[in-house]
Amino acid sequence: MAILPIITAPDPRLKIISQPVETVDDAIRTLLDDMLETMHDAIGIGLAAVQVGVDARVIVIEIADEEGNKGKSLEFINPEIVWSSAEERAHEEGCLSLPEHFAEVTRPDEIKISYLDRDGKKQQLQAEGILSTCIQHEMDHLEGVLFVDHISAVRRNMILRKLKKLRRMNSDEAD
Ligand code: NI
Repeated sequence: MAILPIITAPDPRLKIISQPVETVDDAIRTLLDDMLETMHDAIGIGLAAVQVGVDARVIVIEIADEEGNKGKSLEFINPEIVWSSAEERAHEEGCLSLPEHFAEVTRPDEIKISYLDRDGKKQQLQAEGILSTCIQHEMDHLEGVLFVDHISAVRRNMILRKLKKLRRMNSDEAD
């Protein structure tokens, strides 16, 4: 297992549309393990492969319960939304690729997805609430979409400008 570097916005690599996984093999299982370790290390609740520079349709999620107990590690390969509710929910979203920034995004409250598990078996899952929001957020990454793409351009540009400035400051320190 390995902790992989997470790409932060703005970065053209986060705009890449991820490719479907053709064969779920050991390389994909290693990627899943590395992504989970990377997500744990960064204290995130979800991660898409494209955020660690791999343009494959792979996401991992782990959400603690209200008491803070560790959640179940969820792995989705080639996820597809097959149904979504008309009812929506708003949630203050964050992203490991947009550190320290949050914005409220409205999405369908409930979804049903199909996906492949780590054995390459087809599965379905119905999700609501925060899990549904998180899956939709991670699936957006597979299309090169960030949560800031759901908010006003003014707010988006403000956040991206701040991140750019932060990166410049960090690289100056490294010199
Ligand atoms: Ni994200």
